[in-house]
Amino acid sequence: MKILITESIAQEFVEDLRNQGFEVEEYLGHSQEEIEQHIKGCDALIVRSATKVNEALLSNADCLKVVGRAGTGIDNIDVPACTEHGVIALNTPTANNMAAGELAVAHAFSIFRNLCDANEGTHNGDFRRGNWIGIELEGKTAGVIGLGRIGSIVSRKLKGIGMNVVAYDPYVQDEKFEKLGVTRCSTLDDLLKVCDLITLHTPKTKETYNMLAKEQLYKCKRGVRIVNAARGGLVNEQDLADALAEGQVAAAAIDVFDVEPSYNKKPGEQEFDNVLLHAPHCYITPHLGASTKEATYNVGSQVADLVARALKGEMVAALNMPAIEGDINAIRPYCNLAEKIGKMYYQTEKSPVKKLSVSYAGGIANQNMEIVTMSLLVGILKGMGVDTVSYVNVKECVDSFGIKVEEKYEPEVKKYNNLVTVKFFNDDGKELEMAGTVFEPNTEVLVSFYGYEMNCTLHDTLLALKNEDVPGVIGRIATILGRHNINIVSMHWGRKANDNSAKAQAFVSIEQPVNSKILKEIESCDGVLKVSLIDFT
Ligand code: NAD
Ligand code: MLT
Repeated sequence: MKILITESIAQEFVEDLRNQGFEVEEYLGHSQEEIEQHIKGCDALIVRSATKVNEALLSNADCLKVVGRAGTGIDNIDVPACTEHGVIALNTPTANNMAAGELAVAHAFSIFRNLCDANEGTHNGDFRRGNWIGIELEGKTAGVIGLGRIGSIVSRKLKGIGMNVVAYDPYVQDEKFEKLGVTRCSTLDDLLKVCDLITLHTPKTKETYNMLAKEQLYKCKRGVRIVNAARGGLVNEQDLADALAEGQVAAAAIDVFDVEPSYNKKPGEQEFDNVLLHAPHCYITPHLGASTKEATYNVGSQVADLVARALKGEMVAALNMPAIEGDINAIRPYCNLAEKIGKMYYQTEKSPVKKLSVSYAGGIANQNMEIVTMSLLVGILKGMGVDTVSYVNVKECVDSFGIKVEEKYEPEVKKYNNLVTVKFFNDDGKELEMAGTVFEPNTEVLVSFYGYEMNCTLHDTLLALKNEDVPGVIGRIATILGRHNINIVSMHWGRKANDNSAKAQAFVSIEQPVNSKILKEIESCDGVLKVSLIDFT
């Protein structure tokens, strides 16, 4: 499978992906149009903030399954369009928070103490320090717009240096303000009029775009200083340049532009201009918020890991999937179990499924298991040969086949700590049931199969056999497998409770694949009633 990387991530994780067998192409410094052409044949795309993952790119992608945003902001990713194209969109929302928070604070220090001008002056032989008299941060008021992950880090640090911190974030509860010791401003205007420093930490949305324009900038104290290390366009660039020129804003530190240049081109190759590059007392960094060794490592390792997992069909937390409650590592084995149960249906039955009822019993019934149900559906659809199904389009796929899905939660369970039971209602009017559990830490076990009680670990390849419950059957099967050099990993037998039909169900885990000829041979064995090959790979 091919992964295209259009903006650089830590090299060691590029190599990691190659070592896992993926073909990886680093396609850096190319235009959006070139990337849109180059996306053909790629199964995954890794980007940072410059590549636009939009309809134009997605409609050119013929086999794209995953988009990994190496970073936090997703304003360059059209998530609904990804969903429509069945593409998993994921990001690494916590990997670079500290780096971005520290950059905002560094910028605040810098513009309060004129560090950039002083540096430039002294390098040009001007040591007249009286020209660069700054102001102290201690005792001044900082206004944080957006009290999320990074806004909270910045608040904590600014409080630590003795600033009085106020914040505006209508979506955050009072409790968080209280915990951080930050004063709540109920309106943006309330914040604007009291601050010596304003630092922005919201995403770029319709609501936040140009949230600081001329009107707002002139509601601020004269001489206010502004830091934007969140997203370009939160502060209107032309209005800020004018306010700087007029002295309404004393200084600004800008890490992000509304439209950004390519961060991979050499200086002479860059055709980029912006009004803020020419504005007085405006100090620019090239979207440097996440550029620390630590954040580069964290972002690279997380995005590579998530993209690889998603390509392997594992469930990962993604932007266009329901939020996963609790520990993803604890829930993942149940997803694997459910997907395997789903895959088993069409490998053992022919009649189309009309309705599914899945019940979660025991401890797992206390949390939302929607993602596990989705795994079950992915398994069923893959079993139907729907290769394009993924977590993001599975609901639409299931709807298109008219399959009804019901979810139940039952805290009480008799035999196991947790139990997933799936009832398949099919076109033949039959109701077939499979149930499974997970033995710590992540062994998926089938405990009941169409009425037969089991205790079968779900290895990658199994033979499911219905047979006469008489001596010798299993011996004959083992002999055939041995003759064909097929190694048996384990065998499990099950009977129906209170059943005198003298039928049994067996599962044989095998290490090598069996072909249809061997299957026929087993099927024609004395005492064998039905044999199905179950392949989870
Ligand atoms: P977050 O989602 O944790 O926090 C964003 C906060 O903004 C939320 O609390 C939300 O309630 C608030 N918000 C949304 N709309 C608002 C509005 N209209 N008014 C006030 N508050 C509003 O995000 P985060 O991880 O803290 O990231 C913050 C920003 O920093 C994002 O734009 C992200 O893309 C950017 N970022 C930049 C860099 C960089 O390199 N410069 C690095 C990382 C993140
Ligand atoms: C982010 O949103 O993570 C930052 O803008 C950093 C980046 O894009 O590299």
